[in-house]
Amino acid sequence: MTALRESAAFKTLEGHHKDIAAVHLRDLFADDPSRGTDLTAEACGLFFDYSKNLASRETVGLLAGLARELRMPERRDAMFRGEHINTSEDRAVLHVALRMPRSRSLVVDGVDVVRQVHEVLDRMAAFTESVRSGEWKGHTGRPIKRIINIGIGGSDLGPVMAYEALKDYSRRDIGFRFVSNVDGTDFREATLDADPAETLFIVSSKTFTTLETMTNAQTARQWLLDGLGADEAAIAKHFVAVSTNAAGVAEFGIDTDNMFGFWEWVGGRYSMDSAIGLSTMLAIGPDRFNEMLEGFHRMDEHFLETRLESNLPAIHGLLTVWYRNFFGAETHAVFPYSEYLHRFPAYLQQLTMESNGKGVTADGEPVDYGTGAIFWGEPGTNGQHSFYQLVHQGTEMIPADFIGFNHALNPLGNHQDLLVSNVFAQTEALAFGKTAGQLRDEGVEERLIPHKTFSGNRPTSTILVDRLTPGSLGTLVAFYEHSVFTQGAVWQIDSFDQWGVELGKALAQAIIPELESGRAPDPGSHDSSTTNLIRRYREANGRR
Ligand code: F6P
Repeated sequence: MTALRESAAFKTLEGHHKDIAAVHLRDLFADDPSRGTDLTAEACGLFFDYSKNLASRETVGLLAGLARELRMPERRDAMFRGEHINTSEDRAVLHVALRMPRSRSLVVDGVDVVRQVHEVLDRMAAFTESVRSGEWKGHTGRPIKRIINIGIGGSDLGPVMAYEALKDYSRRDIGFRFVSNVDGTDFREATLDADPAETLFIVSSKTFTTLETMTNAQTARQWLLDGLGADEAAIAKHFVAVSTNAAGVAEFGIDTDNMFGFWEWVGGRYSMDSAIGLSTMLAIGPDRFNEMLEGFHRMDEHFLETRLESNLPAIHGLLTVWYRNFFGAETHAVFPYSEYLHRFPAYLQQLTMESNGKGVTADGEPVDYGTGAIFWGEPGTNGQHSFYQLVHQGTEMIPADFIGFNHALNPLGNHQDLLVSNVFAQTEALAFGKTAGQLRDEGVEERLIPHKTFSGNRPTSTILVDRLTPGSLGTLVAFYEHSVFTQGAVWQIDSFDQWGVELGKALAQAIIPELESGRAPDPGSHDSSTTNLIRRYREANGRR
């Protein structure tokens, strides 16, 4: 048996689960009038109301005990010290160093990483100022009006999410686009109305080997040279790179003077606040970018220093474990009530699922419990008119986070009151539902009672933030990063590797020549389904 199942706290929680599962949220609230104010925590500008969860103060205490028994705080401290907690890749995990203030120092493997971070931030700021001021000119002497980030996964999802989230703070006279998919449509649509003379490409790739990014970067290079009718010298004015791989960048033809580096201790999905955030800085400027880093850092300090029972990301992570391992919940929804956060669920999908979608412990033992939940979501109120039906009356338990803001960035009429009323109404409806008795009292026809009954008892957390700013976005992202860490530590997995993405990549490399070559592949090289699909594609493209 694994350490998790063997732990005394796990066994206690199994018993406690039986008690909690037998009580409805209606009764938990009725029995404890101060529940709605007590089961809350506030830090760094986030108000976290977890009272509408199927949990009590005792649950949180027991879950914190589980985390301690499994040495989660020690693991957290080891991460902040720069120990190689990513054991399968033998790497430190130091995204928290990306937002440490200049005055700090953190020596890891003999190097002060905070000094390195600020050197890069300073170079990014100088570059950003020169582009935004128009001092940086394209090959023909025109200023930059279109910035296209080429990257995928962590080198795309963070930048695009942050750009969309912080659009209100961004320069509107420069257009930003994000090309990730190897589907040529992505590149074409991003460049259809772009003038090469005014376009700057940021090629963002930690490894600088990723198929999609390298393919899009080569296409961009050709598009630029064709458009400008220019020689290779134009590349230096229209391409910069963000990578850990200086040799790869140079080989591509980008001057390493135009490269912004980061380090192997920054995981792709934890990199939006590294140089991978160059597009964010170009959009909102260095001061706002710095505010974002401060927001991240505030949550880092809170996570590091606060006891687990009052620690926002720890409570969130432990509740996710609670639903996953004791209630068998397979998914977790995130509903931001802000149109600016429309890419936030997609961003969280990589953060949570690439981190915690693991079937073995860090020691390589198969787990005998569920790990990473399937994260998904859409902004409210749109989701309410689509899939909320299943969340309210379907057969699955779907723990959900509702993210709301006290103040709108676009205060039109009473839109914000209407928006936020829906946050509160949805969580109320999910928790308390509507009984058959209530429906009868309202005179509802008997045959409709089963259809109109809402069971309630559906768990939600509400995260209330004053306003969407660069700082609050940083705090929110760090909140989820550390929740993911907490979950992974309890599950005893390596949340910082991603071996599961490799097999498909390798097989695609083998299939590419089989699609393209003049000669049909050996029929014995794949299973009959794959062979048949390859054959049909080749035939459709006139390759027999
Ligand atoms: O395929 C998954 C992955 O390795 C992610 O972990 C990473 O964020 C993404 O690909 C992009 O990698 P890179 O930044 O090296 O191009």
